[in-house]
Amino acid sequence: MTILNKLQLKSLLKSSGNVQKDLFAEALLVRQKYFGNNVYLRGIIEFSNICQKNCYYCGIRKNNKSVQRYRMEMSEIEACLDFIKQANYGSVVLQSGEMLDEISKEFLLKIVQLIHQKYPELGITLSCGEFDFDFLKKLKEAGAHRYLLRIEASQKLLYEQLHPSDHSFENRVEVLKNLKKLNYQVGTGNLIGTPYQTLDDLVEDLMFFQKMDFDMFGLGPYVPHENTPLFETDYVKHWGIKKEEILNTTLNFIALLRIMMPTCNIATATALDSLHSKGRILALQAGANVIMPSVTPQSRREDYFLYQNKSSVDAGADETLDLVLDKVLEAGFIPVFGERGNAVHFCNRM
Ligand code: 5AD
Ligand code: SF4
Repeated sequence: MTILNKLQLKSLLKSSGNVQKDLFAEALLVRQKYFGNNVYLRGIIEFSNICQKNCYYCGIRKNNKSVQRYRMEMSEIEACLDFIKQANYGSVVLQSGEMLDEISKEFLLKIVQLIHQKYPELGITLSCGEFDFDFLKKLKEAGAHRYLLRIEASQKLLYEQLHPSDHSFENRVEVLKNLKKLNYQVGTGNLIGTPYQTLDDLVEDLMFFQKMDFDMFGLGPYVPHENTPLFETDYVKHWGIKKEEILNTTLNFIALLRIMMPTCNIATATALDSLHSKGRILALQAGANVIMPSVTPQSRREDYFLYQNKSSVDAGADETLDLVLDKVLEAGFIPVFGERGNAVHFCNRM
């Protein structure tokens, strides 16, 4: 395995031209070795946009009063699941804002139980925030396999610049550790290109990911949303210029992560499509191996607006899948249906 020091990582993170080409070629070789041309698919259901948190960058933060809040009915979720089965997805991802009250927890537990009973073959991933150990254990026992919790920024200072003071960096790390203790396949990720972030922060993120030995990653570019505090920073004035730089840095980051952690699953973020029409495909070509088309009903999509220009807001689940498949096939990758697509890294770890 190639071992890169911090200086090399920093320089490769900003690479372009031939150096970047070589970087992608090496990452692609590693990707081919463990996954061939396969791309694992997960259907993602954004079942609620209600959130008790106030992350400075996020469009559905609690204090954004212009968002129409929803939590899907169980029947609506069941319809999404039926679509997932009919389309032969091997895994489902349940994503929502963070709600830690008993009613919300009970509801989530019911969804997991329902999926486990009705579709025991489906891989179940949750992405619903910082639950305590006991509740994460309950969800695991009910049938959940994987959990995604982005650290967003592994450096405490930057984390605190991106979140209000009642958000705890320590607790986030603690929850990630608990997820590992509970034998979840654990995924994390960061936001790339936020105000205040330096290349050194990104190098530390790579080191943190490796040190914590995570199984999966879902990372992506920061895309401003106008109803958020972060939008107000000077940075936004430079967004037009920064866009390409952020796209490049994100792709370089993915390639480096693939080289550093060859067997982990790396998902391509939908946010990449806000920077480039083929953003998610470029990520596959830089080493990512998972894509998560939204199966959220079209009527809900404009209310799950984490950032501006979110792609496929005007499409339904079947149209979204078709669009994704066209691009994946066109780029020469093989979409994998009917398989959970566990992280090889996790299987080795167990
Ligand atoms: N740009 C990109 N990603 C965002 N998220 C929230 N707001 C933004 C934004 N403005 C991401 C967070 C969170 C995930 C659900 O959405 O990283 O973990
Ligand atoms: Fe809530 Fe997640 Fe948005 Fe933060 S990023 S405000 S926790 S939905």
